[in-house]
Formats: sequence, C-alpha cells, structure tokens
Amino acid sequence: MSYGDLTGRTVVITGASKGIGARASRVLAQAGASVVGLARSVDELTALKYDLENDGLSFDFGVVDLVSPDASEQLGQLMAKHVPDVFINNAGATRPAAFQDVTVDDFDAVMRLNLKAGFFATQAAVRAMTAKGNTGLKRSIIHISSMLGTVALPGRAVYSATKHALEGLTKAMALDLASDGIRVNSICPTYIETPLTRPLMENQAFVDYVTQRMPLSTAEQPIGKVGDLDGALMFLADSALSDLVTGTNLVVDGGWTAQ
Ligand SMILES: NC(=O)c1ccc[n+]([C@@H]2O[C@H](COP(=O)([O-])OP(=O)(O)OC[C@H]3O[C@@H](n4cnc5c(N)ncnc54)[C@H](OP(=O)(O)O)[C@@H]3O)[C@@H](O)[C@H]2O)c1
Repeated sequence: MSYGDLTGRTVVITGASKGIGARASRVLAQAGASVVGLARSVDELTALKYDLENDGLSFDFGVVDLVSPDASEQLGQLMAKHVPDVFINNAGATRPAAFQDVTVDDFDAVMRLNLKAGFFATQAAVRAMTAKGNTGLKRSIIHISSMLGTVALPGRAVYSATKHALEGLTKAMALDLASDGIRVNSICPTYIETPLTRPLMENQAFVDYVTQRMPLSTAEQPIGKVGDLDGALMFLADSALSDLVTGTNLVVDGGWTAQ
C-alpha cells in the first residue's frame, strides 16, 4: 500500500539495513522517492537493494559506521551527492541495565550512537539541504525517537535519556530551521518487532508485561510491526500532507503512554 507522493524526492535514512529502517526504505520508495540507506552491514544493504530494485523501486546505499571518526566526512560527501529532501535519523541501539549497573562503556556506546552520531548525521543532512537552497516543497527531518522519549521504563535509563534528548533536539531544530523551509519532527514508537526487540520477545514474562501495558496489544500481535509506522512516516515525510507540522512528535504506541 502507498500513501502520499514522494516522486522526485530524495530520502536518506540511517540504520536502513534492517528493522524499522529497512521497512521505511521500502515504504518511502513505494511512494516514489529515491531512497539512500546508510548502515554498516554491506551484505544486508546489498540484499535490501536487490529486493527493492526487483520490485522496481529506487534504492542506493552507503556503508557508514556512524560512530567512526571519519563518519562526518563520509556523510558530508554522501549528502552532497544525494541531497536529502527527507532525512530520517533512525539508527539506534540499547543496552538495558538498571541505573545502578550502567557502566561507562554502556553509557558511552548508547549516547554516542543514539544522540551524538544522530545529531551530527542530521547536521550533515541540514548542511547539504541549505547549500542546495529551496526547491519548492519544504524539506523534512524525522528523528526516530521512542515512547521512551516521553515516558520511562525500568532498566532503560541511558536509552530513555537519549530519546528524551531527541525530543528536545526536535523542538530546538524546528526553531532553528524553519526559516530554511525545513520541518523537524519525531516519531515515538512503542515496542516494534525488529532484530532490536527479538531477544525481548523470547521472554514470556516480557510478552505478558507488554500485553498488559499496551491497550491495543492482542494475543496474536502483542507488540507493533514495522508496518505500523508506515502512515506516520509518510505523513511526516510528505510536505504536501504535513506542511505546517514541525517541532512535534507523533506517538505510535497502541495507547501505552495514554495511561
Ligand atoms: N524496535 C523497537 O521496538 C523500537 C521502539 C522504539 C524506537 N525504536 C528506535 O527505532 C530505531 C530503529 O530500531 P530497530 O528496532 O529497527 O533496530 P535494529 O533492527 O537493531 O536496526 C538498527 C539499525 O541501525 C544500524 N546501526 C546500528 N549501529 C550503527 C552504526 N554504528 N552505524 C551505522 N548504522 C548503525 C543497524 O545497521 P548495521 O548493523 O548494518 O550497522 C540497523 O540498520 C532506533 O533508533 C530505535 O531506538 C525502536
């Protein structure tokens, strides 16, 4: 299914090799965008390119380790070539641990990817956008945050801190970039089935907990599917649908944070 129209638009997305990023690449390419996906795994990116091109969709990729020292330079070059109309800051990771057990290594790893690398990857995208100047429709930046950007859960101190920070960054960027015709928003998903959450879903106690916490959870589908984010992504990506929407978050959490 396709919503909106991104024909002629370039979408650059981090963390495209799997999970939410791979699905977003497909759904935005189906809407007509030329999608450029970034990640470390050349095999997964190559397989995704094969699948999408087989379906007649436009997908290219760049192999980038977002936390490597030369990431900024690589991203600058890549985005000068593929100037994004839509940039999706999606790559992220977690290391669950109770607050008192978090190590400096855990803290640095999650902060470095979820916040610092995302911040500077997005900055590289914005620099490429502003260097090119206005092209008609507003451009869009989407941070893939989390419901843990609006609430907390036990054992997620660092992850939650990074996602709350992304919510602040969304608002600050929206103010700084409005005059450049760039909208900045975030999507806050609940638990979604991806390689990130697969280990959690093998734990029946966790599944029972989620089922009890999320009003729209069902026995057949206790947590969300990657496709549950399709509509939110399209709405925020397509400026014809969300021209006046900036500095806000779109919570896709089955009612989790409503209580
Ligand atoms: N799944 C959920 O329940 C859920 C809920 C709320 C929010 N989110 C957020 O959604 C985003 C995507 O999550 P996901 O579940 O799709 O995760 P995932 O399946 O683990 O995918 C993570 C993506 O990030 C890439 N990545 C990780 N480290 C990287 C690095 N150093 N450099 C470049 N790319 C890197 C991975 O690619 P490579 O390994 O190939 O580098 C992969 O494409 C994250 O920000 C996450 O916090 C997820």
